[in-house]
Amino acid sequence: MEAKTSSASAVTMAQVVLPTHANAAGNMHGGEVMKMMDSAAGVVAMRHSLCNVVTASVDQLVFKEPIFVGDLVLCHAELIYVGRSSMEVFVRVDVENLVRGETRRALEGYFVMVALDRNGRPTSVPPLKLENEEQERLFTEARERLANLKKRKGPSHR
Ligand SMILES: CC(C)(COP(=O)(O)OP(=O)(O)OC[C@H]1O[C@@H](n2cnc3c(N)ncnc32)[C@H](O)[C@@H]1OP(=O)(O)O)[C@@H](O)C(=O)NCCC(=O)NCCS
Repeated sequence: MEAKTSSASAVTMAQVVLPTHANAAGNMHGGEVMKMMDSAAGVVAMRHSLCNVVTASVDQLVFKEPIFVGDLVLCHAELIYVGRSSMEVFVRVDVENLVRGETRRALEGYFVMVALDRNGRPTSVPPLKLENEEQERLFTEARERLANLKKRKGPSHR
């Protein structure tokens, strides 16, 4: 399989926060923003693998800033690591206050997506073509993070 770059699959998804996404005080529900991040990670993994994918794990998801009704949520997702069937996608969420014209980083996290064949079994995906030192650094870090995850949870990660 021919290697593909991360820019070939990267995506930015945008959505204005509506009252249905929020609690009574106007804060966006954590689950709503996580769903958006998961969708963006899924798009990246499908673009790279051209397969159906599922989320295997989510790591280091930290909510740094609140998100409010009326904010524009920008979810940037980019592939940073590829194994045999697994792909780690880094997702960062920026929030734009459309009245003040200010943007701030609200949260970020790492999503491992696994490509499935027609029988629902993990299947090989194209390698990731690394284009610069930063991408090489992220790839190495991701490989170490996933190796640690395997050590913590055992061979099946469960
Ligand atoms: C993810 C899933 C397909 C893995 O199946 P499995 O039988 O454990 O498959 P394998 O052991 O062959 O692992 C396949 C790949 O997934 C990776 N993987 C499996 N579980 C993982 C986990 N919890 N975290 C990170 N990676 C994981 C393995 O390292 C392997 O990577 P590689 O092919 O790049 O080396 C399976 O656990 C599953 O279907 N889970 C439910 C997914 C789901 O429904 N998600 C939606 C959320 S409700």
